[in-house]
Amino acid sequence: PAVHVLNGPNLNLLGAREPAIYGTATLDDIRAALEKRCGERGVSLVFRQSNHEGDLVSWIQEAGAAGAPVILNAGALTHTSIALHDAIKGAQAVVIEVHLSNVHARESFRHHSYISPAARGVIAGFGPMSYLLALEAVFENEPKKS
Ligand code: DQA
Repeated sequence: PAVHVLNGPNLNLLGAREPAIYGTATLDDIRAALEKRCGERGVSLVFRQSNHEGDLVSWIQEAGAAGAPVILNAGALTHTSIALHDAIKGAQAVVIEVHLSNVHARESFRHHSYISPAARGVIAGFGPMSYLLALEAVFENEPKKS
């Protein structure tokens, strides 16, 4: 199955949004880097962003039903959303939680994640590379194509 990369609120603003924290790469740049790496592996990529919690709930359910691995940057919903936690558990989705920034080095309200207890693992603090590292972790658990 395709790798599903799901992005939450405000990540559409990446590149322009607080560049000192999040860097200057756009979400499209991240998508392009992931497309390239998926291409090398012969794996297809579903890449989505929404500012709406319900969209993310539905997409997690969809990926879970397809048995597709999920790389999830839930943005601020990470710190608030029991609904996303329940979606991951309920859909039995295999989720790798990612963050561009090192949330643990930031405000205390970013230290708690509702995603982490339901996630396979967490990668934070490496900018766009957080997504690429998560993708490598997915590949480790997927059979190689050739
Ligand atoms: C983020 C960290 C969150 O705390 C923040 O609300 C975001 C982005 C990150 O990728 O570093 O929107 O998930």
